[in-house]
Amino acid sequence: MERLEYERVKASIKTLLGIDLSYYKDEQMRRRLDSWLARSSKASWEDYFAWIHKDEREQQRLRDYLTINVSEFFRDPERWELLRTHVLPRLLQEQRQTHRPRLRIWSAGCSTGQEAYSLAMLCDDIGVRPAPYLLATDLDRGALKKAVARGPYNVEEVRHVSPSFLQRYFEPGGPPYLVRENLAQKVIFREQNLLADPFEGDFDLIVCRNVVIYFTNEAKETLYRKFHQALRPGGFLFLGGTELIPHPQIYGFASFQISFYMKKVV
Ligand SMILES: C[S@@+](CC[C@H](N)C(=O)[O-])C[C@H]1O[C@@H](n2cnc3c(N)ncnc32)[C@H](O)[C@@H]1O
Repeated sequence: MERLEYERVKASIKTLLGIDLSYYKDEQMRRRLDSWLARSSKASWEDYFAWIHKDEREQQRLRDYLTINVSEFFRDPERWELLRTHVLPRLLQEQRQTHRPRLRIWSAGCSTGQEAYSLAMLCDDIGVRPAPYLLATDLDRGALKKAVARGPYNVEEVRHVSPSFLQRYFEPGGPPYLVRENLAQKVIFREQNLLADPFEGDFDLIVCRNVVIYFTNEAKETLYRKFHQALRPGGFLFLGGTELIPHPQIYGFASFQISFYMKKVV
């Protein structure tokens, strides 16, 4: 797609879906959009937008495609093990020492809920008491709907859930699986655009995994700064398996374990 046409498509998508593609890498996004149009039955973007204007379901399909909300429970299990063995024990110790009433955790870009529920299971299992304040946000309303509905999740999505967790935290009778209501009650789901909306603050842990891969470098930098602000000193940012902050000190972070960055205490 040519630049001028891309600008027009971007403007239509912003008006229609509220997603500003200028924060996403151009090349990749243009290629994705080209292949989306090729797969539709429409000959041009003009025809396509005229068609989906009144079709909410097609709008949701386009939104799903653009935001790519693939997820699973305990994605990259070895990193979750680091969370269990190195990060959470440290946060709990600090909570006791500083008399913080409870841990504050945020799953940013939570998609259909698997990451937030993984956090809820892990905290319950290691005995985080009282239960943490656990916020989970995403800009994709359709994804959040599945999260709030507690699933259903297929076999692939639960492949890293241990048999004992499956038994304790999921309704019997799967697949497909639903998380139990008492686990779901521990998570607050909310719609939020990380590139436009205000953030809450004072978090002990922000989990933002596999979200920034399609963002421009500028958008990533802004986001890292905002995450830094939203963490308490000594708090952690947990990124995706392939996401690295090349010079974390620029943003006030120190590398901790692989995928984990700690907000420096000044
Ligand atoms: C690949 S999923 C990652 C889900 C989960 N964090 C994981 O690692 O399994 C990426 C999610 O980021 C969300 N996302 C993309 N851009 C966003 C933005 N600007 N604000 C909030 N969420 C966004 C998408 O809607 C999608 O659900």
